[in-house]
Amino acid sequence: MAIKTVGVLGCGLMGSGIAQVSAAAGYRTIVREVSDTFLQKGLGRISKFLDDGVAKGKVTAADRDTTLANLSGTTSFDALADCDLVIEAVVENLAEKTATYASLERVVKPHTIFLSNTSSLCITELAAATKRPDRFGGLHFFNPVPIMKLVEVIRALTTSDETYQTVFQFAQSLGKEPITAPDRPGFIVNRLLVPYLLDAIRAYENGLGTLEDIDKGMKLGCGYPMGPFTLLDFVGLDTTYYIANIMFEEFREPAYAPPPLLKRMVLAGRLGRKSGQGFYKY
Ligand code: CAA
Repeated sequence: MAIKTVGVLGCGLMGSGIAQVSAAAGYRTIVREVSDTFLQKGLGRISKFLDDGVAKGKVTAADRDTTLANLSGTTSFDALADCDLVIEAVVENLAEKTATYASLERVVKPHTIFLSNTSSLCITELAAATKRPDRFGGLHFFNPVPIMKLVEVIRALTTSDETYQTVFQFAQSLGKEPITAPDRPGFIVNRLLVPYLLDAIRAYENGLGTLEDIDKGMKLGCGYPMGPFTLLDFVGLDTTYYIANIMFEEFREPAYAPPPLLKRMVLAGRLGRKSGQGFYKY
């Protein structure tokens, strides 16, 4: 199936990155937010990233202009009527996501593929909430979306072969490296990453070392781009806590149980970079 027009639901950190890479790959891209304030903030993030890229010599001024010309923002669902494929990146909440799909289904064409960027919810459950469970899948991006090469392509039990092939090829056309992940909590990357991050918190609570030394150890000793606490602050402690709870609920294995310190930091509003304080202050 030829994809020409792409819709993105949500212009937050992930949605804006997804809209940017879609527009940069040449797709006419329409990004929807719930309010003009959120939309302008998200579009501003895209412009800034592209301007920074030009300043760093990573993006040409012509490519930046073409990307921005391919991109438009809206607060309505009607503007998404012509989309061949829509990627949803709204808040990680089942009710919010399914309500969004219901609004979208009222305007799009029968062939339109729906994809969710969820990092934690069950793709089969999301697919079942729509009238197109065969044209539904997961497409999980990594933060920062324009830089991270990986995307996980997730098949719901109901995803058709044709949809899966189309989505895999679409991911490649974005300049990403797709991998196929099962519809199980954490998919592939978070299934391995989250227990590591939780273990780092437990080890820290048990006096293994300072935050700085543990981070330095994993960064310089293993060549990871960020130590676990820098990464936790980057991903968001609330996001990590949310994913860990879903994984623990499903697998019932201690490795996925969120440590008490993580819960308390979330309750205290220390969510990481986005709130100005997590394990470190920003
Ligand atoms: N435009 C174009 N390119 C840009 C750019 C811009 N505005 N800003 C930076 N870049 C490029 C840089 O030029 C650089 O490219 P080269 O490697 O070719 O030189 C690259 O992007 C890295 O940028 P920086 O050098 O500025 O920054 P850095 O080296 O400190 O790396 C980082 C930053 C990419 C975030 C790195 O620290 C990293 O990979 N961290 C780990 C991130 C991670 O693990 N993300 C996944 C989180 S989990 C998740 O997202 C899923 C989930 O479900 C929770």
